[in-house]
Amino acid sequence: MQPLRIAIAGTGMIGAVHADAARRAGARVVGVAASTPERAKAAAVRLGAERSFDHADELAAAPDVDVVHVCTPNALHGPLVRRALAAGKHVVCEKPLSTELSDALELADLARESGLVNAVPFVYRYHAMAAEARHRVRGGAIGDVRLLHGHYLQDWLSGRADDNWRVDAAVGGASRAFADIGSHWCDLVEWVSGHRIAALTAVVQTAVPERPASGSVSTEDVVHVLLRTDRGATGSLVVSQVSPGRKNRLWFEIDGAEHSVVFDQENPESLLLGGRTRTETVVRDPGTLSAEAARLSPVPAGHPLGYRDCFAAFVADVYEAVRRHPTDGAPDRPLHPTFADAARTARITDAVLRSAHSRSWIEVR
Ligand SMILES: NC(=O)c1ccc[n+]([C@@H]2O[C@H](COP(=O)([O-])OP(=O)(O)OC[C@H]3O[C@@H](n4cnc5c(N)ncnc54)[C@H](O)[C@@H]3O)[C@@H](O)[C@H]2O)c1
Repeated sequence: MQPLRIAIAGTGMIGAVHADAARRAGARVVGVAASTPERAKAAAVRLGAERSFDHADELAAAPDVDVVHVCTPNALHGPLVRRALAAGKHVVCEKPLSTELSDALELADLARESGLVNAVPFVYRYHAMAAEARHRVRGGAIGDVRLLHGHYLQDWLSGRADDNWRVDAAVGGASRAFADIGSHWCDLVEWVSGHRIAALTAVVQTAVPERPASGSVSTEDVVHVLLRTDRGATGSLVVSQVSPGRKNRLWFEIDGAEHSVVFDQENPESLLLGGRTRTETVVRDPGTLSAEAARLSPVPAGHPLGYRDCFAAFVADVYEAVRRHPTDGAPDRPLHPTFADAARTARITDAVLRSAHSRSWIEVR
């Protein structure tokens, strides 16, 4: 079997993670593109790619590329995805799929109609213990779900001197903290619980109103959400990029009639299983866990797995779908998260901004 030939547009923090995952899944990284030809050349050396492209447009349509990974700032996702799909490429595109809801919906439709494999790295689904939480919640082990709550907190934009392209709505989109990280929380909690956020009300805050390069800031640093699900549960969520000491704290609790289940992305090797008479810590041990949690455990208990392992498992699933594609087509129910899942989080993000603006409850379709 020939190795898949993949190329990566955008070679920053996450582009490097994609390159590592692609290699671990046995692919050839045939090329990279960055913001300038010089940066692309340097990145090709740094990431071990076979060559650099002067422009991402060229990469997206290159004849010797099977899968295009879009890892650029958000506003560039849509044009590159369109170009790659039009050239018949399978596409892995970073979240958020687009800076606009209507565009995200259109991209999801285009990908579905193309029949090509499409994927979005909601990679926290690939923590074995998140999969274990899903198995237990969906299998009824905690009883009827009553409430879902949690937070996603970071601190890297808490200083007045901190800045990034995400702060600028023209590049990152009108929502920053929620589109960037709140989207991960919603995807993960809906995936684990099987509940869908049906209505929400949100408050947003821009805690640092001026930043050095961005100037006056219109995107939010903080979001508080109250929510109701389609199956009668309630919930709440705090999202922040200005919480000192919190690096990447994605944390959720799902409370059922019999038990609660707690997952903490920064300590992903265990779950807390709460009960009235007994509360236990369930550790990752492929010998005792569900089939899916065991599948996501390539090493035995006591040998910690982390973010890059999730990414590698995600990319391996996507490439398996690509390898099967010529005979099977794009799977109806792929193992990996797709553009449809990203369009779903775009709807939730849009509802958050509309709710904050109108100070009202908004239904989420
Ligand atoms: N799934 C996840 O867990 C996760 C984590 C981090 C980032 N992301 C997403 O990945 C994307 C990139 O984020 P990042 O943190 O890597 O940002 P980054 O700033 O570290 O990197 C962005 C890269 O894009 C390149 N770039 C800029 N303009 C370009 C152009 N015209 N053509 C080609 N490349 C260009 C830059 O050179 C840089 O290498 C964002 O959409 C972000 O939301 C996802």
